[in-house]
Amino acid sequence: MGTIKASAPPSNITVEKWVDHILGDAKVNTPAAQASAYAPSNIALSKYWGKREASFNLPVTGSVSISLADHGTQTDLCIIDGPKHQVSLNGKGLDASDGFVIKLSQWLDRVLPKNLKLGVDTINTVPTAAGLASSASGFAALTLSTNSLMGWNLPQHQLSALARLGSGSASRSLWHGFVKWHAGQLPDGSDSVANPLDHQWPDLRVGLLTVSSHTKAVSSREGMARTIATSKLYKQWPQQAQNDLATIEAAIAMGDFETMAKTAEHNAMSMHATMASAWPPLIYWQPESLSQMQKVWQLRAQGLPLYFTMDAGPNLKLLFEAKHQADVESAFETVKVITPFQ
Ligand code: DP6
Repeated sequence: MGTIKASAPPSNITVEKWVDHILGDAKVNTPAAQASAYAPSNIALSKYWGKREASFNLPVTGSVSISLADHGTQTDLCIIDGPKHQVSLNGKGLDASDGFVIKLSQWLDRVLPKNLKLGVDTINTVPTAAGLASSASGFAALTLSTNSLMGWNLPQHQLSALARLGSGSASRSLWHGFVKWHAGQLPDGSDSVANPLDHQWPDLRVGLLTVSSHTKAVSSREGMARTIATSKLYKQWPQQAQNDLATIEAAIAMGDFETMAKTAEHNAMSMHATMASAWPPLIYWQPESLSQMQKVWQLRAQGLPLYFTMDAGPNLKLLFEAKHQADVESAFETVKVITPFQ
């Protein structure tokens, strides 16, 4: 990225100290009465799977994603009186013991002045049935709206790092289009931030194929920790992820759909192979996921340029170009097609 200047911090810096350092005097700015922001959801074409440091959510490798336009999170903030943050999701108040509320409150307590409590109204524009991760767009929208509420005026790369503290993939959800998250090297993650890639691809389509919308039993966070700790296959992953990232970035620059999509599918399958070789084994697929994969491979064998990627869940995200949308929609009746570059 070149433009990021970060002085080397002490290697034992805590998240709290880093946040105070980044915010400086702005941490105690007088907040506005309310603020809002929207952030799109994203899917990785070359995945983030594994942390080199957990408290800052620092990844083993870089990753590259495509944002999902109007599928994301709208967050409205206001100041409230009371001892705790109050969080609602899609209009329904959540209990303080809810995992989402706990993560979100921890993030807010790190960045806000002591005793300032917020009402956080979160609307996911992703249909719940689409089975897309909402933590990426959720923490990105929370970061953007808090920046606005508190008048931090932070540069984008620092907002990306703050969003990453909530969830790694959130570092990529601050922008539309293709986004690259740099692995970085510094212990405090000042250089582990995302930036948008300067390439548009108006004909690119992402098809959401929902196999199951149930909450997964093992979170990505737990899944990647288990994989690193127990999978022998994981040893080859960092090198492959690094190569795939470079291949996909070059293919995006050249508008080479086949190389981009083929590498993305191979990357996802390789990630799932590391999960399957963890102990206890981690299989996020349902029988229906495999049927859908086989259908994609069959259609491809018949000449349709159709690929997929998958995250830590059973649902497929199809990758194809606009000229094949009608074929994809007739083959997959329930597919929800997204145009990332609207
Ligand atoms: C498979 O960003 O949800 O979707 O940093 O622990 O919150 P935490 O994990 P998270 O992991 C996403 C994993 C993935 C791949 C990706 O989005 O790159």
